[in-house]
This record gives sequence, structure tokens and C-alpha cells, in this order.
Amino acid sequence: MTADRSREHLIEVYRKKAKHYDLTSRLYPVPGYPVRAQRRMAVQALGLRRGYRVVDIACGTGLNFPLIESVIGPDGRIVGVDMTDAMLAQAERRTASNGWRNVSLVQAHAAQFDFPAEIDAILSSYALTQVPECAQVIAHGAAALRIGGRWVVLDVKLPAAAPRWLTQLGTAIVGRFASIDQWIERHPWETIRAAMQEELAEPSWTELFFGTAFLAAGSAGPGTADGTTGRQVPRG
Ligand SMILES: C[S@@+](CC[C@H](N)C(=O)[O-])C[C@H]1O[C@@H](n2cnc3c(N)ncnc32)[C@H](O)[C@@H]1O
Repeated sequence: MTADRSREHLIEVYRKKAKHYDLTSRLYPVPGYPVRAQRRMAVQALGLRRGYRVVDIACGTGLNFPLIESVIGPDGRIVGVDMTDAMLAQAERRTASNGWRNVSLVQAHAAQFDFPAEIDAILSSYALTQVPECAQVIAHGAAALRIGGRWVVLDVKLPAAAPRWLTQLGTAIVGRFASIDQWIERHPWETIRAAMQEELAEPSWTELFFGTAFLAAGSAGPGTADGTTGRQVPRG
């Protein structure tokens, strides 16, 4: 499948899922999978404060928005980016029903999105492993963060040397959005890990729930916006 074709296919998949996504995402991949706890961990890792400006890449229906809003308050700003119109329509509904006036929604492909300058934090949850250009997205975001700004990625992965039942769990998770074979072959979580290490200072990597998910985080250092890497930033 060409890149354009697989992108169109993903959009079609999410158009069908959009209306019931909030409900079905709670039950995926199996009832009881700690999606909500993982989401809270990811938002916590952003280190938000009142008034912060946050970009949520591939925001879907905006399930992260309530957690972000509760910290940044009305003085802050959320920019939600997604390529699927129907998912953004649900995010728009959520925004209106909560009366948030500080949310902008942008329909764009993550790799083509022009990040606003000097933002405080970027989050992407359960989405970036679906984006073949994920390293580019991480680099663009890192360049737009203010110094000390945080980049956090939460997503699913396959556990290393997984017992059979765990592999099945992992493939059940990804089965909802991608060709499993391609996804497994690409090991996109490794690409994300390497890109976070390359682009950000003090990168961290935490495996969650028996290695079926990961939380990758890092901060923009003085060297990250001018072409040098996060790892070259002096620590301490
Ligand atoms: C599983 S949903 C996750 C939504 C949300 N982040 C969450 O945590 O519930 C994946 C979302 O990624 C979006 N997406 C996938 N590839 C994308 C891309 N290349 N650019 C922008 N959005 C993308 C889909 O449209 C979908 O809304």
C-alpha cells in the first residue's frame, strides 16, 4: 500500500469509529486495560502549569483535553491536531459542551503540521506509532518547544520476547488501526524512542503494562531548536 493510500485507509477507519470512539476506546484491547491510568501518567509527564500552551498531536476526539484543561485553566491553550474530520467533529462537540474557549482544532497530517513557536508542551497518545513519519513529527515538535518544554508520547507496542498471550494482546491493540504485519515489521516504538533520544534532553522511556505500552518523554534543551541534538545539551 502506498503512503497516501494507507493514510486514506486510516482516515476511513477512524471516520467509522469516531461516533463511538470514546466508549470503545475504554474497552480496548480488553475491558480492564488501564488506558485511563496511562493517559493520566502521560499528562502528568507534561509537567503542566496554569496558562501553558499545549499541542495534542493526533488528538482524536479530545480524550486528553479534560486532563489538560484541569491544569492549564482558561489562560492556557490547547491546539488539537488530527487528520480525520469525524474525530475532530467529536473533539469540537466535547469542547463546546464543556464551554472551553481556549481550544483550537486543526485538521492536518501530523508530519505536515506547522507547530506554533515557543509552545510549552506536546502530547501524542495512542497515535504516533501509526504515523510512518513519526521521527519527523518528533523533530518538528522539538524545534517548536520553548527551552524546558516537554514532549510526551504514549502508545502501544509489542513486548520484547513476549509470551504468546501477550503478543496476542499487543496485536489486538494495534489491529484496530493498522495492518498488523506492517506495524510489527516497522517496530515504530523503536523509531520513536530513537527520535526522542536524538531530539530532546533528558529523554526517558518507561514500559507499561507488561511492555504492551510505553511512555516516552523529554525536554527541549538549548541545543534542540538550532539543529544540535538533545543529547549534546549539558546536564546538571
Ligand atoms: C487511536 S486514535 C487516538 C486518539 C487520541 N490521541 C486518544 O488518545 O484517544 C488515533 C488518532 O490518530 C489520528 N491519526 C492517525 N494518523 C495520523 C496522522 N498521520 N496525522 C494526524 N492524525 C493522525 C487518527 O485520525 C485518530 O484520530
